[in-house]
Amino acid sequence: MKEFENLFQPVTIGKLTIKNRIAMAPIVLFGMPLYNHQLQSMTRDGVEYYARRARGGVGQIITSGFKVPHDVEQPGWPELRPEGLTALSEMVDMCHTYDCKVFIQLTPGTGRNLMPSQLAMGLKPISSSALPSVWDPGIICRPLTNEEVKKIINSYKPAAEMVAVTGIDGIEVHSHEGYLLDQFITPFYNRRTDEYGGSFENRLRLPINILHVIKGTLGDDFPVTFRLGIKHFLKDLRVGAMRAKGYEEKGRDIDDTHRIIKRLEEEGYDGFHLDAGCYDAWFWAHPPIYMGHGPHLDYIKGVKDVVKVPIITASRLGLPEVAEKVIKEGLADIVAVGRALLSDPDFPKKLEKGDPDDIRPCIGCHDGCFGHVINLARGLSCSVNPACGRELYYGLLPAVRPKSIIVIGGGPAGMETARVAMLRGHRVTLYEKDGSLGGHLREGSIPDFKYDVKRLLDWYRVQMERLKIDIKLNMEVTGPTISELKAADIVVLATGSGFIIPDIKGVDGKNVVTVGDTLLGKAEIGDEVIVIGGGLEGCETALWLADNGKNVTLLEKLNDLMLAHPVFYTNRNYLMGLMGEANVITLTNINVEKITDGGVIITQTAVADRSENQDIYCKGKERTLRCDTVVLAVGQKPENGLYRTLHGKVRELYKIGDCRTAGKIHDAILAGFNLGRNI
Ligand SMILES: Cc1cc2nc3c(=O)[nH]c(=O)nc-3n(C[C@H](O)[C@H](O)[C@H](O)COP(=O)(O)O)c2cc1C
Ligand code: SF4
Repeated sequence: MKEFENLFQPVTIGKLTIKNRIAMAPIVLFGMPLYNHQLQSMTRDGVEYYARRARGGVGQIITSGFKVPHDVEQPGWPELRPEGLTALSEMVDMCHTYDCKVFIQLTPGTGRNLMPSQLAMGLKPISSSALPSVWDPGIICRPLTNEEVKKIINSYKPAAEMVAVTGIDGIEVHSHEGYLLDQFITPFYNRRTDEYGGSFENRLRLPINILHVIKGTLGDDFPVTFRLGIKHFLKDLRVGAMRAKGYEEKGRDIDDTHRIIKRLEEEGYDGFHLDAGCYDAWFWAHPPIYMGHGPHLDYIKGVKDVVKVPIITASRLGLPEVAEKVIKEGLADIVAVGRALLSDPDFPKKLEKGDPDDIRPCIGCHDGCFGHVINLARGLSCSVNPACGRELYYGLLPAVRPKSIIVIGGGPAGMETARVAMLRGHRVTLYEKDGSLGGHLREGSIPDFKYDVKRLLDWYRVQMERLKIDIKLNMEVTGPTISELKAADIVVLATGSGFIIPDIKGVDGKNVVTVGDTLLGKAEIGDEVIVIGGGLEGCETALWLADNGKNVTLLEKLNDLMLAHPVFYTNRNYLMGLMGEANVITLTNINVEKITDGGVIITQTAVADRSENQDIYCKGKERTLRCDTVVLAVGQKPENGLYRTLHGKVRELYKIGDCRTAGKIHDAILAGFNLGRNI
């Protein structure tokens, strides 16, 4: 039997046969470049984005959520409108070409999850009941009237009629993550007294009525699935639980879900799509790298004994062995993969070929997808695959005149430039001054919880090898090599960044080490550690040290952690939670005045609201914190001295990645990709 054979068995939803067990999980199109809200239509880029995933071998695409056409809630989602049917139909035709079935996800709306940007625009959240907004508890949602609920139900009829026009194969009713429909079916959210609230039967009236409208319009055989979380992990409104134990579940628990899906199956739903969490425990629905792969799988065990219809499941299932295990062990019938199909649209094809090493992994960062939209107000893409969402014009064209290119620096920016340039037919040599490739990916992939960064580094090494890029390790550019550089058509400087050594008295002491040397095991670390710098790197290193038995205190100059460079909400929250569990003490608003042999002398610039640490705070006074080792994690600065040496001496010179501006993996790969595809 082949390694991933279970994933490539056909499966049926209702009477529809799907060629394999890998579906694309719904990922909202967000807006440009994939969806044009003004034109109310998916763009050509959106069509191509889906077609590319279909070409990569997925059996089923569950589209972005589309709001059904009603005016009860203002648009925020893409909306299913007559104006958008041409593009949708073209997308479906393209997907069918590759024998990929398309399910459109239809949502009644957002409810109390309405995003901060939408609240800032003055949009008023609605819900089943007068609940506080997820983002601003001062804003209370307006409960929908009975007529408005009926209006929503009725809007599924024109929606279904539009679906019929497009040739779409099925509908997924969106009710997970605490969105509007979840706010109806969950007693903790739903406090209504009309026929849509109160009893179990009343709470399920909305999804049942929706099903009847769809089936009444499209026929009983038209497949309709339902998406919900197996468990909410809800401690209280706006307070999520990191673990299944040690708290009282106020949201939906596993037994409740079993009861719900059993009842909905009786009514005619053809399948259930399960993940976990809700906006109050958002990391479960959008798991960051720290949560590993399939964090919810323990909780969906046994669900297949509850209903006869197929179970789809999603949540970091892009690790091939985990995806295969889900099907092999009968946890579910279909594995829905979201972000791992953004990072590599050919995920299914490569697995079918038995070549998992060729799959470019999702690193669970959210910097290029959700975070790109929310934190940076840019379009959906992917940190490790900049062509994601831009397939139409970011395709790689063969070089018109192949050139000789020397890339200096084997970090992500350099390796990406080399990879893309080589794919286009250039001749590429890569110089790396150290004995191995990776740049900052090397120390960044040391902690266990950064396993996916290690996978990314492995992937780059495999690509360098397969593309036969001429790699020269331990190659420092000095006088004699400059003549070689002069012979090249293009020189790309990707020399990365070095760790900033802050100007603090005592920073040159023997007990002071950089975060890089710490992670790479090049420095001796005592039992009591102070990490200076509460950015992402400082926080991750503090957690790793604590996981390795150290007593760690983290000092941050600003008034909270991870502020200087935005970190996506769920990544930040989960990491902070892990640091709390590992007893990392965090002190904010801290100036480090001096480092001594036995510790650091600090002052506090403002009173922080972290009450648990108040006794350590020292506003107005100097205070000494004892430690054995001080780890510096105050960021990186570009290392680009070579630029001045080479400028004017080589034919064409570029400076990219950290050696231009120190940034994240996302920035380095984007720069490498853009340069590689344009030179
Ligand atoms: C950018 C982004 C947008 C998403 N949009 C939707 C959506 O429209 N509907 C939905 O049900 N889930 C949505 N999800 C959740 C995904 O379907 C999926 O459950 C989640 O990403 C975890 O799976 P993954 O690790 O395979 O990505 C979205 C996720 C991301 C990252
Ligand atoms: S941006 Fe990060 S989390 Fe999102 S798909 Fe790409 S690698 Fe995965």
